[in-house]
Amino acid sequence: MPEHEHHVCPIWVGHLLNNPLRKLYQNPQKILGRHVREGMTVLDFGCAMGFFTLPLARMVGPEGKVIAVDVQAGMINKLAKRAQKASLSNRITARVCPPDALGLEEFNGKIDFALAFAAVHEVPDTSHFFREVSTLLKSAGKFLLAEPKGHVSDSRFKATLTIAEQHGFRILQPLRIFRSYGILLKNT
Ligand SMILES: C[S@@+](CC[C@H](N)C(=O)[O-])C[C@H]1O[C@@H](n2cnc3c(N)ncnc32)[C@H](O)[C@@H]1O
Repeated sequence: MPEHEHHVCPIWVGHLLNNPLRKLYQNPQKILGRHVREGMTVLDFGCAMGFFTLPLARMVGPEGKVIAVDVQAGMINKLAKRAQKASLSNRITARVCPPDALGLEEFNGKIDFALAFAAVHEVPDTSHFFREVSTLLKSAGKFLLAEPKGHVSDSRFKATLTIAEQHGFRILQPLRIFRSYGILLKNT
């Protein structure tokens, strides 16, 4: 397996990704607002310190839920602290997952919307990953996938989409996201 598939984003980059100035070019409300509604159950895969998790928790409201998973305990610990400070802990289930599984079987068929922002290129088994997300999502549930341009090649992103389609995802539309490949997928 190529070495890049084992690389995970270091904790210090997690702090950079959490920089509030990032909202100027990757605004969570603009990127996610039209896809997420109050009361939804949402997955934030590879959530890091929660740049998208906290805005998602506000979007789903008091009746909704955000399931945030990351392979690194350092990321989840920081997210948990931020969620508590923002009084959003009761809407967020934050968990450390192993690199090769999400471990969220109790949510199978219960997720309305999934986000994986700049995380799928770090997953060791992309095929297994899409199979799990498809199982977690409700039928016709949406999945917003974004990958960093430059870091991920055009051909690699296309190959990722092919794997998604092999696991029952249909491409709904490309999305314009700063310095990213963005795509909205639908579970079938
Ligand atoms: C580049 S960061 C992106 C973080 C966040 N989505 C954002 O846009 O701010 C990628 C994150 O995915 C996590 N990650 C990498 N491989 C993973 C895996 N197999 N399972 C869960 N999380 C993983 C990393 O620990 C890291 O926090």
